[in-house]
Amino acid sequence: MDFTLSIQQKQVRRMARQFAKTELADIAKEIDEEGRFPWEVVEKMGPLNFFGMQAPRKYGGAELDTISYCLVIEEISRVCAAMGLTVAVHNSVVVYPLSRFGSDEQKAKFLPSLASGEKIGAFCLTEPNAGSDAMAIESTAISEGDSYIVNANKIFVTNGGVADTLIIFASVNPRDVKKGFSALLVERGTPGFEIGLLENNCGVRANPVSSIVLTDCRIPKTNLLGREGEGFKIAMAALDTGRIGIAAQAVGIGQAALDASLKYAKERIQFRLPIARQQAIQMMLADMGTMVEAARLLTLQAAHIRDQQGDLSGPSAMAKLFAARTASKVASMGVQIHGGYGYSKDYPIERYFRDARVTEIYEGTNEIQQIVIARELLKRGED
Ligand code: CAA
Repeated sequence: MDFTLSIQQKQVRRMARQFAKTELADIAKEIDEEGRFPWEVVEKMGPLNFFGMQAPRKYGGAELDTISYCLVIEEISRVCAAMGLTVAVHNSVVVYPLSRFGSDEQKAKFLPSLASGEKIGAFCLTEPNAGSDAMAIESTAISEGDSYIVNANKIFVTNGGVADTLIIFASVNPRDVKKGFSALLVERGTPGFEIGLLENNCGVRANPVSSIVLTDCRIPKTNLLGREGEGFKIAMAALDTGRIGIAAQAVGIGQAALDASLKYAKERIQFRLPIARQQAIQMMLADMGTMVEAARLLTLQAAHIRDQQGDLSGPSAMAKLFAARTASKVASMGVQIHGGYGYSKDYPIERYFRDARVTEIYEGTNEIQQIVIARELLKRGED
């Protein structure tokens, strides 16, 4: 497969790289330490269409291909994984399912403010008793006239603390959750809507991950995304795309860990030589570089398949599984190369190490990706 980037894709990558360098590099450490969401950066990202990368032009989006989208997420995450996550989740599991499954009225109402970055999106699937087993949700949406009365307790919601437009999954049929599994568009500020406690997470700390609680929240039936009972398929289709974005985020973190380790290895003198001259260090660097490159290729392949409208579940799960493991492994090797300094907050490698770990968990753990991959392989049979 030929992955020569087009002129336009190279321009998009250059723009994202430049933006991350000028707007994020100086504050990435500080916003991680403070757990602060950088609104000042979001305001600058809006006009550049970071929040509408794949939304239709008609609604203010840029209609970028998925490869360009991945290049942007990689470049942002290479400097600040938390903002990479904000942009990836907003685009892939909110803007995308809304663009694909939304009615014309819903698109006209919700997409322009999401695409411009005026409003931030969030995807609310996980609950205390429904993590990997997404079908086990207990949230309900009971029909009452032209509304649903929604009661939901959602946890670990990426962007939760700042989101205005949220996709909430709840069942319209509590006796048969699967049959009633539905997706609803919910706006912050609706009576009964509450942002719960922010998580004090180990990594990607500038992203305001929170719980979201809906108590007897009246949501108009016009906010139903797709049809009643279609919610699980919408969630899974969104995650098929979302996982490519997380893979790109993981590639960015892995690349950052490699960059920092190369720099350190050339500067650090031990035994009267830069440690980069020691074969033990060179071998680690070689493995790190190879893994990052392989993760990037799998990610771009999944992106390419999506652009060709191919079957995405297997390729996106493979990309996420491999890229997430790579980010964790490469960041851990980077800490090892840095020795005692790698464990100190004075060097960025410890942040990459913390940020990498969650890519193996959110949008489906490694083990969930393995289930998806194995099912696809078995389905494919022997041809
Ligand atoms: N696309 C469309 N439909 C799909 C699908 C897909 N990728 N995957 C499954 N479906 C359909 C199936 O065809 C099936 O349809 P029928 O009933 O008509 O046959 C239906 O959905 C149920 O499928 P399964 O029987 O495979 O369902 P399951 O209960 O065995 O679960 C699973 C499958 C893959 C394990 C799924 O539960 C899963 O992905 N779990 C992980 C959830 C996850 O990733 N959570 C992360 C949440 S978001 C987050 O992390 C944070 C954030 O803020 C973004």
